[in-house]
Amino acid sequence: MDCIRVKLQKSRKDSYDIFVGHGIINSLGSHIRMRHDADRCTIVTDSDVNPLYGRTVRESLAETAVPVDIIEIPAGESSKSVATVLDVVGKLIDLNVSRKSLLIALGGGVVGDITGFIASIYMRSIPYVQIPTTLLAQVDSSVGGKTGVDLPEGKNLLGTFYQPKAVFADLSFLETLTDGDFKNGLAEIIKYCIISDEDMFELLEQEQAAIKKRKPDLMKTLVKRSCKIKADVVEADEREGDLRRILNFGHTLGHALEAASGYRLSHGEAVAIGMVGAAKMSHELAQLDGATCERIVNLIRDYGLPGTIPADFDTEKILAFMARDKKAVEGRLHFVLVKKIGAPFVTGEVPAGVVTDVIEELMVS
Ligand SMILES: NC(=O)c1ccc[n+]([C@@H]2O[C@H](COP(=O)([O-])OP(=O)(O)OC[C@H]3O[C@@H](n4cnc5c(N)ncnc54)[C@H](O)[C@@H]3O)[C@@H](O)[C@H]2O)c1
Repeated sequence: MDCIRVKLQKSRKDSYDIFVGHGIINSLGSHIRMRHDADRCTIVTDSDVNPLYGRTVRESLAETAVPVDIIEIPAGESSKSVATVLDVVGKLIDLNVSRKSLLIALGGGVVGDITGFIASIYMRSIPYVQIPTTLLAQVDSSVGGKTGVDLPEGKNLLGTFYQPKAVFADLSFLETLTDGDFKNGLAEIIKYCIISDEDMFELLEQEQAAIKKRKPDLMKTLVKRSCKIKADVVEADEREGDLRRILNFGHTLGHALEAASGYRLSHGEAVAIGMVGAAKMSHELAQLDGATCERIVNLIRDYGLPGTIPADFDTEKILAFMARDKKAVEGRLHFVLVKKIGAPFVTGEVPAGVVTDVIEELMVS
């Protein structure tokens, strides 16, 4: 199994390993027995993942020789709520989960975000391990320690920065993902290529057929490389200062589209359109050459991700959602743009006219 170390500057004890490989879940129990002095393990998972992998993880944890329990929440974004937090916390209290216990997040980004959030506040924080089971969670949400819960007013409005003790990205979990969830993860991988890795961008261009079939050695390369890119950024900027904001390439417009669609557009679809928008803005501002802009647009399209805004969207509504983005600084919208593949920059200087023109250009009539 391969390992990427996330070395955090704040304190060496917060640094942790991301393990990547096929079938590595079988070594989870021995890892926890050797490295964590837990009095019990509590797996938090969802109603789709539990029937698929709950038993395997529980069996692996038998090696720890401590009690293991499973708490299941309903699958889906609606579980990322304060009500679920209170429900899970009630169950943890009933199970006598203490500060010596270990929480295990087994699932996609929803389970990871809510379990990380609970771990950060339950009894003033207890340790947790991430076992991401979606591609998006393996390359993005399980790395970096951002946790979150949605409120009726918006997504991720409650949250903390709280790092896991380890991440186990078992690539065999990807075999059961729906095409839609697989593509959501690919959108984030494309993002990493654009902001940081031209070689991986070329690999995505050349190996499309094999990647779409989830060929194991290629998936390992993509997940490892993406985790390394995110880990490097998080190491340099744990709490989302300027550097970490490059990870939001495609997200300023993407988040607004997601919200404006009432979350009918998936995160990956919205980010894909947002990345096309960011590439076009970069080109409009004479920062990115036309041929590279076209390569970006083509790659997104070739992976079956959308590059246009559905016709029933309203430009004003999209602009209003962008203005509410919590990443706006002093009322100024910030975009991550690129000068070339691997050369991103953050700017608050995109003229409003350019933003509107690009949105309207992306709108299908
Ligand atoms: N913390 C961060 O830095 C960060 C970054 C990006 C996204 N997020 C959050 O992540 C969430 C989205 O995550 P997601 O896309 O993983 O969604 P998800 O967790 O809802 O998972 C998608 C669906 O796939 C199912 N599933 C999970 N693993 C499976 C598997 N191996 N086989 C079959 N089905 C499986 C889930 O049960 C669910 O129904 C959002 O809430 C978003 O805000 C967080």
